[in-house]
Amino acid sequence: MKFFVDSADLEQIKYLNDIGLVDGVTTNPSIIAKSGRDFIEVIKEICDIVEGPVSAEVTATEADAMIAEGRTLRKVAPNVCVKLPLTMDGLKACKTLSSEGTPVNVTLCFSANQALLAAKAGASFISPFIGRLDDIGLDGMELIEEIRTIYDNYGFETEILAASIRTVGHIRDCALVGADVITSPPNVIAKLADHPLTDKGLDAFMKDWAKTGQSIL
Ligand code: E4P
Repeated sequence: MKFFVDSADLEQIKYLNDIGLVDGVTTNPSIIAKSGRDFIEVIKEICDIVEGPVSAEVTATEADAMIAEGRTLRKVAPNVCVKLPLTMDGLKACKTLSSEGTPVNVTLCFSANQALLAAKAGASFISPFIGRLDDIGLDGMELIEEIRTIYDNYGFETEILAASIRTVGHIRDCALVGADVITSPPNVIAKLADHPLTDKGLDAFMKDWAKTGQSIL
């Protein structure tokens, strides 16, 4: 399963990238607003750090304008992936841009039928939002499972990019049900390494080692 970082924080992206934990990055207009940075500049800088796809989202809502914005974003760096919302206009733009060879991430997916449409429109990635479904009392993970079944039934190559990740449990469950990619806030990825027994065991090893009076270097 690939790990994308859902952030425009360059320091955190670099930190995780140096550990080999970044296969790509996703952004959205809210993430860009939070960064306080110029959109194009920050996307360019992320693309310089990360080799994999970096999603940059259009802000137009009408297909022709989305296509124009997508073509502009695509020129920012060779690894830019154009992010489009799951609307009929977004699907139309998806069809055009993917036919031109531009990778497209279709975002704001909340149903299996929406995911089916995105695959038919040639999306490289579909982004179902787990956390926002959980927030309204639905089961986000059930959606990931449904999309996995539908894509496997028909051999769609669109990758399932599980988004709106809130917990380490979400990441484990995504891996269990076969999501192709997760995009997660950096702090949740870092938490994957945590276990109280690891801390306890390490503490005991360090105390015993100190008793030996030895050093490796
Ligand atoms: C990713 O592509 C989405 O923009 C992101 O995961 C949304 O997460 P949120 O629901 O926590 O805002």
